[in-house]
Amino acid sequence: MKGVTVVNHPLVQHKLTIMRDKETSTAGFRRLLREISLLLCYEVTRDLELTTRTIETPMMTMEAPTLEGKKLVFASVLRAGNGLLDGMLDLVPAARVAHIGLYRDHDTLQAVEYFFKAPSNLADRLVIVVDPMLATANSAIAAIDKLKERGATNIRFLCLLAAPEGIERFTSAHPDVAVFTASIDDKLNEKGYILPGLGDAGDRMYGTK
Ligand code: PRP
Ligand code: URA
Repeated sequence: MKGVTVVNHPLVQHKLTIMRDKETSTAGFRRLLREISLLLCYEVTRDLELTTRTIETPMMTMEAPTLEGKKLVFASVLRAGNGLLDGMLDLVPAARVAHIGLYRDHDTLQAVEYFFKAPSNLADRLVIVVDPMLATANSAIAAIDKLKERGATNIRFLCLLAAPEGIERFTSAHPDVAVFTASIDDKLNEKGYILPGLGDAGDRMYGTK
């Protein structure tokens, strides 16, 4: 099993508290999600392999570190994943992007797919799947099933909040996928929402509902 990393950096935890607060505006929520995504991106990419290349500084030639391997793929689970994606692309502008359109059926809590577009060569690339919420894990499991069907073999999952029930289901469905989250909350309620949570991430980001 790859395990679960809780990113407990003080700035992440401080920003998360403001995001949870129901008085935080749509604009504030979106801005904080983007800011937090920079810090989470730093953690999820912390162990990327480096190689070197020869460059000329104004002073001399040097062998300078540079990322090894093929460009990363960020896979955003729509809609709320886009809030994490934007900041991640600020830090890794050359990353390729996959979009996976999924929504939760409110009655069954099953993930329903409505869109999928990904770079064709997913094998050999690190794919980082981003979605702020891991609740029942139905959406995350479906997103990763699809990416694996399309050839991805090296995958990480990054979210903001996870429910213990979701972590359990996710890690047994995809034990090879490491999970990074800013918090493991208490539990799910009877409607599959995370408690204490932050509500519906997509609605809070886009002012819908
Ligand atoms: C939210 C969230 C996840 C999913 C998590 O999306 O962004 O994708 O719920 O729940 P789960 O772990 O129980 O599957 P939602 O379905 O509300 O769609 P939206 O982002 O378009 O609002
Ligand atoms: N999706 C959300 O946006 N919030 C939850 O609490 C659970 C699923």
